[in-house]
Amino acid sequence: MLPRGLLRLGHVLVLLLCVSASDDFDWTKNDRSSFYYGTFQTGFSWGAGSSAYQTEGAWNIDGKGMSIWDAFTHKKGRIYLNDTGDSSCEGYYKFKDDVSLMKDMKLNHYRFSLSWPRLLPNGLKSEYINEKGIKYYDDLINTLLDNKITPIVTMYHWDLPQVLEEKYGGWQNSSMVNYFNDYANLCFERFGNRVKYWITFNNPWSIAVEGYETGEHAPGLKLRGTGAYKAAHNMIKAHAKVWHTYDTQWRSKQKGLVGISLSADWGEPVDITNQRDIEAAERYIQFYMGWFATPLFNGDYPQVMKDYIGRKSAQQGLGVSRLPVFSAQEKSFIRGTCDFLGIGHFTTRYITQKNYPSGQVNSYFTDRDLAELVDPHWPDPGSEWLYSVPWGFRRLLNFVKTQYGNPMIYVTENGVSEKMLCTDLCDEWRMQYMKDYINEMLKAMKDGVDVKGYTAWSLLDKFEWDEGFSERFGLYYVDFGNKNKPRYPKASVQYYKRIISSNGFPNQREVESWKRKALETCSSSNQLLAENKEHAGMPKAWPVHDEV
Ligand code: NOJ
Repeated sequence: MLPRGLLRLGHVLVLLLCVSASDDFDWTKNDRSSFYYGTFQTGFSWGAGSSAYQTEGAWNIDGKGMSIWDAFTHKKGRIYLNDTGDSSCEGYYKFKDDVSLMKDMKLNHYRFSLSWPRLLPNGLKSEYINEKGIKYYDDLINTLLDNKITPIVTMYHWDLPQVLEEKYGGWQNSSMVNYFNDYANLCFERFGNRVKYWITFNNPWSIAVEGYETGEHAPGLKLRGTGAYKAAHNMIKAHAKVWHTYDTQWRSKQKGLVGISLSADWGEPVDITNQRDIEAAERYIQFYMGWFATPLFNGDYPQVMKDYIGRKSAQQGLGVSRLPVFSAQEKSFIRGTCDFLGIGHFTTRYITQKNYPSGQVNSYFTDRDLAELVDPHWPDPGSEWLYSVPWGFRRLLNFVKTQYGNPMIYVTENGVSEKMLCTDLCDEWRMQYMKDYINEMLKAMKDGVDVKGYTAWSLLDKFEWDEGFSERFGLYYVDFGNKNKPRYPKASVQYYKRIISSNGFPNQREVESWKRKALETCSSSNQLLAENKEHAGMPKAWPVHDEV
């Protein structure tokens, strides 16, 4: 019996629980803490990621229109320290340098997003196409291809043209479906001869819940109990429409794939002998990833969402469920519209049953009837919500395999942050996180999960949404205090390079030497950063990149 301390999120309550390891799922038995030495299949794709608003800067340059994130961050009090993405990493100007960093790491792919308002400043294709925006992405794509790096392109990483929010209410309005489809059509038309991996939406869960339910993200609306469901409904329809557009108009010529990137934490029952906890954990995942994946793979929302939200809506005295309904025609249109599934995964929660009686205030969170807990022993070096729990990754991947018929998977985001004030480039915690999470992914592939690629999140430190620049996810440190935004490699760059060049974890002796070798090089980067910070704004020298 292993005693585990569990911490209720947002409370200081610590529970002690006893969970028998012998009751674990079969496929992870005795395997949770053992390391698996082995390599990935030939052709496995290694990459790193970013998104437009988080890295590009140049928010009002060369004809770019305003996005909901520009409008949101420009209002005081929304973002930690009132940070904005106005200049961020200046990725718009420095993309050639960044591609060199990728080349040096021998990345196979780079995942980035297109800014809708940079391409269509008024949101609408019929009104005006910004050729300077097209040229920027053309140059980026060509530079990647010249360096044999495959672009994996997200069309929507949260930066809706502000005008569409103001005129129509953004994703609350079903007219977005056609506007998004027009925008996607433009992307296929202009970039589809070179881009073969398309992701329609990044993490629609966040867009719906944080944008339209809690209001922590742009556009900052708090439409509790309805806003998130409506936004999700329109995004699912928009995704399906774009997939069909590609399928009927572009696929035969361009021969690419269209997927979506869903984020999902794993939810583990607090007490795996308790049926109520098991069901609560299942609900947690169904309300998270299943909300989007089930319609795309099976044609409709998960039954448990329909049941819970329907029952609670009736108890509130509403005539219809707050969860919108797909018509039979829509169901068959939406089913089967995912050529590959992108997964963004960072952490895990323990889940227990908790009743929220229906009352005046209903929300996505109370609809689920559950509570999230964490183990205070789990490492959490950076973001408050991000605990390192590698075994949850393998479980999530196996869940996807069984639930959705073993789809082709690209891991589109996985990584860990540190706090803003941390200037230590010897990021041991990130190397450990990468090693363990990538190893659990390898185990999942041995279980039969079809993972084709892995994307480290993220290439650079960048704007972390409502947390501003206070959380650093980058393999490269960015000195935001310096107007040149220089990049410095953290030790994890060296570490990731070794994983890539070995295509996995060849043997114990070699893998154990990697961390030591990576730590040998980061102290010189630390010194350089410290010296340059002393001369803020006037770097003495640019960082160098050590060869593996
Ligand atoms: C998921 C989001 O897609 C990404 O933009 C963000 O940086 C990471 N979560 C980390 O919070």
